[in-house]
Amino acid sequence: MSGGAGGAAHACFSCHGLDGEGDGVSVPRLAGLDAGYLQKQMEDYASGIRPDKVMGPVAKPLDDDARRAVAAYYAALPVKATGGAAAPPPALWTAGDPARDVAPCAACHGREGQGVGSGQPALAGQPAAYTIDQFDRWKRAVRRNDARGVMTAIAGKLTESEVAALAAWLETRPASPRPASGAASASAVEAAAAGSAASREGRRRDR
Ligand code: HEC
Ligand code: HEC
Repeated sequence: MSGGAGGAAHACFSCHGLDGEGDGVSVPRLAGLDAGYLQKQMEDYASGIRPDKVMGPVAKPLDDDARRAVAAYYAALPVKATGGAAAPPPALWTAGDPARDVAPCAACHGREGQGVGSGQPALAGQPAAYTIDQFDRWKRAVRRNDARGVMTAIAGKLTESEVAALAAWLETRPASPRPASGAASASAVEAAAAGSAASREGRRRDR
């Protein structure tokens, strides 16, 4: 957290905030993001498939254990309540655009942008300028760390104003704790909750 071998200038909190909330402009929130996603990003910055002049030098000096440790630390931090205005999502978010072969963002990133599993990150509450910048990097094939190239393909098809609208909406989404891990276990959690509610029902004294 203090920058490790990279020195104090690499201390995470100096840019990402004391609570991992980001700076609201170009530095993303880390608090409550999935640990696997965070660790992968550190590896990708270090290997250069997600090149960034700030994060590259921060990630490179860290060994695997240190990357895992910072990822686990930020994943476990509580997320701050942000945004929340109940604006409807842009149509691209919920429906995509079959004519251009663009899948709905919600299918991979969750209905409110809360992320799905380790591979498909939470976007809710991320600064609009940061999101727009990521699209620009995919479009220019600078960020190349998306294994199946989904984001590169999508970024090439959207207009600047579409990206701006999506980014503006995402910034207002309340950042929320990530679901346990993906849809499968979320429904397992629901099933378990329903099961215990049913067994409580069975034990009611007035039965
Ligand atoms: C000097 C400022 C600075 C410091 C220090 C810094 N970061 Fe970053 N970080 C950034 C910026 C700017 C970005 C966005 C870069 C980009 O567009 O890819 C970023 C992005 C990230 C991301 C990607 C998040 C996402 O949603 O994809 C992770 C993970 C991350 N930083 C972790 C860390 C950790 C862990 C540390 C400490 C070991 C750290 N950062 C230190 C500025 C900083
Ligand atoms: C088929 C699945 C899929 C669809 C559809 C999809 N994404 Fe993604 N998206 C991903 C994956 C996978 C990543 C993570 C790549 C990586 O490991 O860095 C990602 C990453 C992102 C990121 C970077 C987050 C960060 O913190 O740096 C943004 C922003 C994003 N997507 C926005 C969108 C938007 C907006 C749409 C709809 C127009 C969309 N995505 C549609 C799979 C998808």
